[in-house]
Amino acid sequence: MIKFLDIDYLDDIYLLVNNYLNFIDYKYIKNELTNLDNEIIGFFVGTELVGVLSYLKILDEIEINYIVVKEEFRRNKIASELFKNIFKLKDFKVINLEVDVTNRSAIEFYLKLGFKQIRIRKNYYQGKDGLEMKKVIGEL
Ligand SMILES: CC(C)(COP(=O)(O)OP(=O)(O)OC[C@H]1O[C@@H](n2cnc3c(N)ncnc32)[C@H](O)[C@@H]1OP(=O)(O)O)[C@@H](O)C(=O)NCCC(=O)NCCS
Repeated sequence: MIKFLDIDYLDDIYLLVNNYLNFIDYKYIKNELTNLDNEIIGFFVGTELVGVLSYLKILDEIEINYIVVKEEFRRNKIASELFKNIFKLKDFKVINLEVDVTNRSAIEFYLKLGFKQIRIRKNYYQGKDGLEMKKVIGEL
């Protein structure tokens, strides 16, 4: 089941996300949950939160903040299902994101969803380079 997450889920989101992306801290998530332009959607198996996708709406564009699926639940299309909810949003033309250039699994995942590689941004992640990717909504 997929649903929008509110501040009541702050601790659950933090425990899931910070485990894999340690630069996303508690305060960062709290700020996201209180920003009206930011949405976080969660994927539940039973009552357990096993996937989250956070994004920011900026005019007619969407900026992905992060997506995380709990390790033992990966390769079950959970992240793909979370993204489907973004692809069907009305009034948005483009989805942008940055990913650590060394994060091959995430890059493969984004390519599979139809994202294109735009450019490398030097020193984007605490000394690591970031790959900027983009998808025009509706294009394969
Ligand atoms: C990237 C991530 C969100 C993918 O989640 P997922 O639920 O396993 O992804 P899906 O099952 O929807 O994958 C869909 C397709 O993407 C590709 N893909 C996903 N993970 C992959 C991997 N590790 N290696 C190669 N291709 C991969 C495959 O084509 C896959 O389809 P298939 O399983 O039929 O081959 C997950 O690996 C994750 O949480 N990583 C850690 C956090 C992270 O790095 N997030 C991204 C940066 S913000």
